[in-house]
Amino acid sequence: MQYSDRIEKLESEGAFVVLAKARKLEAQGKKIIHLQIGEPDFATPANICEAGVSAIRDGHTHYAPSGGLLEARQVVADYYNKTRNISINGEHVIIMPGCKPLIYCTMEAILNPGDEVIVPDPGYPTYRSVARFVGANPIPIKLREENEFRFLVSDIEKLITPKTKMIVINSPENPTGGILTFEDLEAIYAIAKKHDLWIMSDEIYSRLVYDTEFKSVATIPGALERTVAIDGLSKTYAMTGWRLGYAAMPKTLADYLFTMAINTFSSTATFTQYAMMEALQGPQGGVHKMVEEFSRRRDVIVEGLNKIEGISCLKPQGAFYVFPNITKTGLTSDQFADLILEEGGVAGLAGTAFGANGEGYARFSYANSIENIQAALAQIERVLANRK
Ligand SMILES: Cc1ncc(COP(=O)(O)O)c(C=O)c1O
Repeated sequence: MQYSDRIEKLESEGAFVVLAKARKLEAQGKKIIHLQIGEPDFATPANICEAGVSAIRDGHTHYAPSGGLLEARQVVADYYNKTRNISINGEHVIIMPGCKPLIYCTMEAILNPGDEVIVPDPGYPTYRSVARFVGANPIPIKLREENEFRFLVSDIEKLITPKTKMIVINSPENPTGGILTFEDLEAIYAIAKKHDLWIMSDEIYSRLVYDTEFKSVATIPGALERTVAIDGLSKTYAMTGWRLGYAAMPKTLADYLFTMAINTFSSTATFTQYAMMEALQGPQGGVHKMVEEFSRRRDVIVEGLNKIEGISCLKPQGAFYVFPNITKTGLTSDQFADLILEEGGVAGLAGTAFGANGEGYARFSYANSIENIQAALAQIERVLANRK
């Protein structure tokens, strides 16, 4: 049978590939510590679960409007107004089953074949994969360790051509945990305005920040005319399996995404939107506790990695990932990830899973207990020492 040419352009995701390898080893009886996973290990807060279950009991089990329940879109608008200091209404909001479909539909709605999209590298692989899938060319912009894994704004200008149509930013960032400053965001917006570009701002880690405050490009006056600010429940509320994301955008784009939803999944599940309203409007104690615990784990993993010969690790200010430099081990990123998995039972990702500029790095998620993180650190140290 024949398939489309473009289907070959879709990439898998490193975390899922490593998970499959790790599962195979587990099937052979090996114990694996999972530090490759990008999802909180906490339970979804009880008040949110209760709201979802009550919604099912109350009969909210049918189609919703394709862009989201009107009431839910307004709740998201209010949340953005509060967290991004803007003033939008629900017409600027679209709700979808996760941030991923929002990334996908945004690129479909904006990019033509041959258009160029500037994407962070190392960066979340979905951006480049979907950009290629829709026929566009992802142009990597290097995130620099010496700049705390921010890119240099001056590098953006160098990458812009007449074909550039979109800049993707992700702050706090996966995989590095790096955060763009408000000055960076202002400079990015100025460049986007000057060259008439879209900004796709993936803000899914907006609430997972430590020792600093989250800033959104959407806050800059005028920015929302050319910005899609994507966020969702997966990471903030430990709700990866509920599948719920939302984004603020210009109304015309919202109308196009609404039509894309009609033609694909019809609507996001209705009862999860009730749970979302509780998540955004109800008590936030669960989030605060989770952030405190992540902060403790971050300290443990950063300190532990820095004690291992050949590894150095910056202390990230956001998300729940560390991106240690492993060049002094003498191993490539792939060799390092394979070695610690096969010999040490520690599942982490090669930095190259996030682009060519990830060579020389590994990514670990600290969405795991301190006990498991400490055990993983001991294993990594042992495996590297035994190699000599
Ligand atoms: C940067 C980034 N964007 C989007 C997603 C996907 O989020 P969702 O579960 O809402 O589809 C992830 C998940 O790992 C992510 O790291």
